[in-house]
Amino acid sequence: MNITGKKAVVIGGTSGIGLEASLLLVSKGASVVAVSRDPKKAGTVPNGIRLESLDTRDGAAVEKFFNAEDDIDILVNSATGGSRARGAFMEMDEKSFQASFDKLWGYANVIRHGVPCLKENGAVVLVSGSPARKPKPGQIALSSVGSAVEAFSRGIAAEIAPKRINVISPGIIDTPMVALTGDEREKHYQNVTKTHLIGRAGHSAEVAQAIIFAIENDFLTGTTIDVDGGWLAAQ
Ligand SMILES: NC(=O)c1ccc[n+]([C@@H]2O[C@H](COP(=O)([O-])OP(=O)(O)OC[C@H]3O[C@@H](n4cnc5c(N)ncnc54)[C@H](OP(=O)(O)O)[C@@H]3O)[C@@H](O)[C@H]2O)c1
Repeated sequence: MNITGKKAVVIGGTSGIGLEASLLLVSKGASVVAVSRDPKKAGTVPNGIRLESLDTRDGAAVEKFFNAEDDIDILVNSATGGSRARGAFMEMDEKSFQASFDKLWGYANVIRHGVPCLKENGAVVLVSGSPARKPKPGQIALSSVGSAVEAFSRGIAAEIAPKRINVISPGIIDTPMVALTGDEREKHYQNVTKTHLIGRAGHSAEVAQAIIFAIENDFLTGTTIDVDGGWLAAQ
């Protein structure tokens, strides 16, 4: 797909990986609708990005949002969706575990109402994460949700073809998702990447590049691309 002149909707496009994908899409000549619950957090965005407010957990609101949009060429969902439970499953309360799946329900709402607005040669990209296939201690909820996102995408690829859908799976990426600052933040990222083959946090732009690749490559569907600094390959 040649991105120039195309219309993209980027859910979670106001921060971190989604914002970086929005900026890259605009730099390649797309018009972008960047969406989140509180889009003001994107700050000042370049011409070509329109900010819209939407909570992906609200199916009726997602339907209304897509009904108001013209034909879409590119649909990216990079939203975290809800809370992310951490810790041992046996010690985790049921509500926290279930709430982690708000990411999946958000993605499902966006696919249900967004794909009908996608042109026949359009492309969807969802975002999972390395815990899906190699959870570290305390990541059972993240792993379960990430695996579900990947399985959902693989499963639905045939249903929506020739429209394409792929997943990008990031490792540890330095984004506003982690609220720590200064030394504490630096130490955190050193600590959580020390077993990886590339011992640093990734940049949002490194993941956004993979999102662009999945959009541009017309021969790619139903697959997952890892951008993880060697998390999965490490012994
Ligand atoms: N950063 C990492 O290390 C990492 C690793 C693996 C996977 N991931 C995945 O990568 C994706 C992007 O993460 P990120 O690091 O870029 O996080 P981020 O900087 O916190 O951005 C998350 C975006 O999602 C939006 N969002 C959250 N819940 C939403 C909802 N219910 N409805 C609409 N928008 C919503 C947020 O905006 P509002 O708050 O305004 O809604 C924000 O724009 C997520 O799916 C995350 O799970 C990240």
